[in-house]
Amino acid sequence: MLRLSDWPEIKEVPFSGDLETDAVALLAANGKTVTAAHTPAVARKSEALARRFGLDQVRASRAALLHDVSGVLKPREMLDYALLRGWSLDEAERRHPVLLHQRISADFAKDLFGVNDAIILSAIACHTTLRVNPSDYDMLLFLADKLAWDRAGVPPFEAAVTKALDRSLARASLVYIDYALNNGMLLFPHGQLNQAKAWLETACS
Ligand SMILES: [Fe+2]
Ligand SMILES: [Fe+2]
Repeated sequence: MLRLSDWPEIKEVPFSGDLETDAVALLAANGKTVTAAHTPAVARKSEALARRFGLDQVRASRAALLHDVSGVLKPREMLDYALLRGWSLDEAERRHPVLLHQRISADFAKDLFGVNDAIILSAIACHTTLRVNPSDYDMLLFLADKLAWDRAGVPPFEAAVTKALDRSLARASLVYIDYALNNGMLLFPHGQLNQAKAWLETACS
C-alpha cells in the first residue's frame, strides 16, 4: 500500500474529496505547475471524447485527473519504487524511468484516491504507451493526453489525429503512434507501444 509519507520530501495536501481539486492541489504543492495545468485540460478533452464516442464521461474524467499524479516523484524515486516491488521493466523504462509514471499513477489512484475501477486503472497505467487490445478508455485517455499536451502551441499531429478520430479511436491511436515514431518524438520506443502499434494495424485493416 502506497503512502505519500514514504517520500518525506513530498508535500501533502488535505484532500477535499473532489478529485480534480485534490489532484491539481497535490501537483501544484509539489511544484508540478505544468502538470497541474495539463491535468484539467486532459480531463476536459477526455469528457469531450467520451461524449462523442458514447462512453462514460465520469469514468473518462476520473482517469484523466489522476493520469499524471505520480509526477510528484522524481524519476529515480520511480525506478526505486518499481525495483522495490519487483516489477519487470521494459528497456525504455530502465533507460528513462519517468516512463514508469503511468504505472505508478495507477497505484496512486488506487492507494491514495481509492479508485478501484479496473477500467480507470488500466487507462492510467498505459496512457503513455498504450497496450495490446486496448479498451476504448485506454485509447481515449492515450489520445486526450496527447491532444491536450503539456507543451506550448498546437501539437504538430493534431490535424492528422483529429481527422482519424472521424473513423475511430483505434485509427486515431495508430495515426498518433506512427507520427511519434516517424518524427523522433519518443525517448525510446517502449515494447508495449510497438505491440500496440502492431495490434492496431491489424484491428484497423
Ligand atoms: Fe503522462
Ligand atoms: Fe499527461
